Amino acid sequence: MADNKNLMDKLVSLCKRQGFIFQSSEIYGGIGGFWDYGPLGVELKRNIREAWWHDMITGHDNTLTPEGAPSPYSMTGLECSIVMHPQVWKASGHYELFHDMMVDCHECKSRFRADHIGSSQCPQKPSKCPGEHDKCDLTEPREFNLMFKTHVGALFNPDSEAYMRPETAQGMFVNFKNVVDTSRVKLPFGIAQIGKSFRNEITPRNFTFRSREFEQMEMEFFCRPEESRQWYEYWRDQRYNWYVNLGLKSDKLILRDHEADELSHYSNGTADIEYAFPFLGEGEYGELEGVAHRGDYDLRSHSEGKLVRDGDGFAVELGEDGKPKYSGSGKDLRYHDQVANEKFFPHVIEPAAGCDRAALAFLCEAYTEDQVPDGKGELQERIVMKFHPRLAPIKAAVLPLRKKEDAEIAKDIYRKLKPYWNVFYDEGGSIGRRYRRQDESGTPYCITVDAETAEDNSVTIRDRDSLKQERIPVDELIGKLHEKLSGA
Ligand code: GAP
Repeated sequence: MADNKNLMDKLVSLCKRQGFIFQSSEIYGGIGGFWDYGPLGVELKRNIREAWWHDMITGHDNTLTPEGAPSPYSMTGLECSIVMHPQVWKASGHYELFHDMMVDCHECKSRFRADHIGSSQCPQKPSKCPGEHDKCDLTEPREFNLMFKTHVGALFNPDSEAYMRPETAQGMFVNFKNVVDTSRVKLPFGIAQIGKSFRNEITPRNFTFRSREFEQMEMEFFCRPEESRQWYEYWRDQRYNWYVNLGLKSDKLILRDHEADELSHYSNGTADIEYAFPFLGEGEYGELEGVAHRGDYDLRSHSEGKLVRDGDGFAVELGEDGKPKYSGSGKDLRYHDQVANEKFFPHVIEPAAGCDRAALAFLCEAYTEDQVPDGKGELQERIVMKFHPRLAPIKAAVLPLRKKEDAEIAKDIYRKLKPYWNVFYDEGGSIGRRYRRQDESGTPYCITVDAETAEDNSVTIRDRDSLKQERIPVDELIGKLHEKLSGA
């Protein structure tokens, strides 16, 4: 654990030093639970989003049955607004049920999550857990809704209240009919979205792991109820393998089925994909993504009204007046199977990932300390970020060995590569220092231009991980990089 704590401190410091992640509004002292991504961080996140979007949607072949899948399926995307009609959150259950239990201290005016009391710190000195000082005066646990409230329009009254979405998922449910009508997809199919979500977390912590503003990558997969179990198992495996294929080691990654008392109000079954983040204790894992079997909860509640559990299924919750407590849209969101001529609510499997948590896991996994020869027969310590090439913020750096003589040829090579990849040109400092900088940025390949380049039009490519150098003709550079970066 001590080593892991040390590792986390080193990673946070590297993120700041290399421009991966900064505290939001840092010059004003920061604001808890909000983060900014710097020049390298923004590229890392873009690459994660693009890998997800490609692997889930644009790269998916709608006509084939993928290995392990019950049948072919279609995928489509969506981008919805962050502020939605307030009734969305009443019908979805978030208005009433999306809360944490919290405890206030009358003495120090702090607020703690009731289930984190044992691991939280009271601001009074010497530092102890809340409730352990004589003066501590804690309330009983009380509900605290996690949705950020805002007002729409010029008037500030209950009618103008709206919420920043706490999940992207509801955008897919309320647009279900729009997507079916316009893209003519047939069951089974998925609708996916990437976007910001907001939760007023009581104790944001562990760097970006629990933030108040974060990005989700969610997919709602609609299928026939009788096939839903098979699809649930398919998506659990698919999503687990996605992380492994992008470099998370499987011994640090687990698939954990939720116990019955952990299930969300809508879920018939959920498995979390969890990673052994270094800020956690030995044998502990933190959630990267949840894969939930949501049954027909969402489409039904947006049609009929907020649902409550009723035996194995759900029933519309009624208020004291016998009418639906929070009514749905009243629109019929059932799917019409034209061949069988039947209408029904499809079941939904939802893989819900966090882009920031994925970025944090890939950063943790990439961080490596090793030793490399310094050219004078000695070994030198180095920090290297071993990102998968698809995720690496910079794909290759072009480095002229001699600033004066080799710069023009090097710039020419840099310009040839630029249309294809995010390539970096660097002529400042010794070649060893420039390699170190690229290693810390996680750049998989360094292309060095030297005296031989002018003579035979060849360059060396240095591999970040193996440190092997290969001499190749400049004319073959684009093909070679293509091959290496795609992992061929
Ligand atoms: N639509 C279902 C849903 O939102 P969730 O488990 O609450 O499920 C999905 O969230 C994912 O979003 C989580 O697995 C996590 O990666 C990410 N996430 C949730 N809350 C977060 C927070 N406060 N900070 C960063 N990421 C968060």
